[in-house]
Amino acid sequence: MNKTIQQLYERKSTRAFLKEPIAQKEKEIIFEAAMQAPSAGNMSLYSIVEISDPVLKEKLAILCDDQPFIVQAPLVLVFLADYQKWHTLFASHDLPCAGFGEGDLFLAMADCLIAAQNTVVAAESLGIGSCYIGDIIEHYEEVKELLHLPKYALPAAMLVYGKPAPSALARSKPPRFSIQDMVFTNSYPERSDKQIEEMFMRRQDLAKGELDSYVKRIHSFKYDTDFRQEMNRSIQVMIDSWSRHDDV
Ligand SMILES: Cc1cc2nc3c(=O)[nH]c(=O)nc-3n(C[C@H](O)[C@H](O)[C@H](O)COP(=O)(O)O)c2cc1C
Repeated sequence: MNKTIQQLYERKSTRAFLKEPIAQKEKEIIFEAAMQAPSAGNMSLYSIVEISDPVLKEKLAILCDDQPFIVQAPLVLVFLADYQKWHTLFASHDLPCAGFGEGDLFLAMADCLIAAQNTVVAAESLGIGSCYIGDIIEHYEEVKELLHLPKYALPAAMLVYGKPAPSALARSKPPRFSIQDMVFTNSYPERSDKQIEEMFMRRQDLAKGELDSYVKRIHSFKYDTDFRQEMNRSIQVMIDSWSRHDDV
């Protein structure tokens, strides 16, 4: 197995960091890995904001569902889906640019997350662990104010990076589905309730009587939650603002 594949297989989220800072050279490699990512029409519809101010880090950690390990991370980056630079450029050339639609936002989100994942892979190759913080898409109004975001630059992801502490290295990687449960040929398969249940039991290595409590736990901690409601509210505000044609 080559080194790239091995690192992809071995990567797991890092939530406990050594105090060691990330060297400037390492940061540049990570940023350049983002620049080299593919993007739709090579429009690079994203920007990255490094959060170096400890007070700002603290505020974001609280806004992101109060996850204190964010504050301990030597490097924190917010990835923005960003059409702002094109909007400004079009406008300065007197080109029509009457607001953007949801399709534009989806493309910008795709650009942004692909660039983000390039940084994850690059960091991993340098022995630097990382963890996505999905909660950055909550509380849009506050995040917008804290980071001075213009209308067409929306938070898509936050990532924290650092050399893994021993506890992070010791943590086992959560299980994955097998390829046959996730990869299909030519069309999406029809699967019975029983087949779906068996698929989850295989992944989680559950005995028959254990599935129900597993499903209820995930439903309670991941689905039936305040943070999901806040995320959906926040995203709706972002979409409404992005596609409101009040700037022309
Ligand atoms: C979009 C996205 C959002 C995530 N948000 C968080 C988060 O807010 N907090 C956290 O600790 N982990 C977060 N994670 C990490 C996942 O929990 C982790 O990737 C998943 O459990 C699989 O574990 P692994 O990365 O160690 O393989 C997020 C991952 C993704 C892709």
